[in-house]
Amino acid sequence: MDTRVNPDILGSVVDNADEGHFEVSRRVFADPDIFQREIKHIFESNWVFLAHASQLPNPHDYFATQIGSQPVVLMRDEQGNVNTFYNACPHRGAQITTCKHGNKRKHMCIYHGWVFDSAGNGAVDQQDSGNYPDYFHQLDHNLRQIAHTETYRGFIFGSLNGDVQTLDEHLGNARRFIDIYVDSSPDGLEVLKGAHHYTCQANWKIQFENIDGYHFFPVHSSYVGVMLERMKGASGNTLKMVDVTNLSDIPSGSFDLGNGHIVDWAEPPNMGDRPMAFSRDEVVQRKGELEARWSADRIRNLVIYPNLLLMDNASSTLRKIIPKSVGFTQLETYLIAPKNEDSRGRQVRLRQYEDFLGPCGQATPDDQAVMEACQRGFEASDVEWQQGYSRGRNSWQEGGNEESAALGIEPFYSSLQQNETFCHGMYRQWLKMMV
Ligand code: FES
Ligand SMILES: [Fe+2]
Repeated sequence: MDTRVNPDILGSVVDNADEGHFEVSRRVFADPDIFQREIKHIFESNWVFLAHASQLPNPHDYFATQIGSQPVVLMRDEQGNVNTFYNACPHRGAQITTCKHGNKRKHMCIYHGWVFDSAGNGAVDQQDSGNYPDYFHQLDHNLRQIAHTETYRGFIFGSLNGDVQTLDEHLGNARRFIDIYVDSSPDGLEVLKGAHHYTCQANWKIQFENIDGYHFFPVHSSYVGVMLERMKGASGNTLKMVDVTNLSDIPSGSFDLGNGHIVDWAEPPNMGDRPMAFSRDEVVQRKGELEARWSADRIRNLVIYPNLLLMDNASSTLRKIIPKSVGFTQLETYLIAPKNEDSRGRQVRLRQYEDFLGPCGQATPDDQAVMEACQRGFEASDVEWQQGYSRGRNSWQEGGNEESAALGIEPFYSSLQQNETFCHGMYRQWLKMMV
């Protein structure tokens, strides 16, 4: 065995594909040491999603976030380039910005007044009169940049590690699904004003597991009840919802896209009630029927490992996952939409977002409750193994299918949306990065 491999980590995922045996130890959700290793090996060693370009559209805009445990701030400079800096003053470490976002030509440190422009160039307050020794004048007083900041079609990613594959290689097949989203408008996407920031007392990985369609009816039964009442017209509420009352009988699927990225999709019968219905013809004319089918007729949940969920289901949302401790996760969710979309579509999108997504919607609180129940259940540490990754194993297929061939991608596995085997790809990537 490679001596660099950590046997504890290696033993925490059982992956015997030939026998269909896949289990994950509950330690990976509950062990603080494993969590610390995840921060170092997954979040601080590879690409992570930082922001959408529309969240800092103008010169001198900035947007604060974090990579693993490290606070960073993205800044758009005078020329329009986006750079990412550690959000820490080189002097004594105060955060350069304590605000989430804004616009500033110059950032003055709140502690001793050093000033940094939007390209990160620093100026020491009273440097000439400060009786500094020569060595100090030789020091670089600029903000320190992270190793890589790159953008794929408006989605900005960063890596603290300089020795990583290119962003294109990292995203791989997942780019196709970002393209479908971005090409739903001739003008690309924009994040709308406003945000939901909330927390979940559960491990970060459960956020991704929870895209399975299997949990929908048990967890969201009250939502289904409301849906059925509205369909009867009894409630007086005319807002249309995605009809997922028959999830197991509608076209659906999921793909393991590689590098931990996953997508699942379904084609409900009433997509005419969705925002893209108003733009479908335009997409057909500009991009063709295949793109229109994927962007307008199909709901999609796209995991960009390890920290982005891009969902176009009941409405469209960008959900950023920020692990804080082994059993505590911060979430930032935004409504992301086609720029300049048809005003009727935009209205539907806004109302469906409020209705279903976000911490005040009809779905997220129920999802939060079950994820937190799982985390409390993990305290029963005598029960070590999770059995929840086998549903659909006998119907999955290695490689792609007709759907992926039409899209021109080569996934590692294809399955149904109601299955839970989509998790395998995420844990394979997890294992690869953790050992
Ligand atoms: S900590 Fe920033 S100027 Fe002193
Ligand atoms: Fe859910």
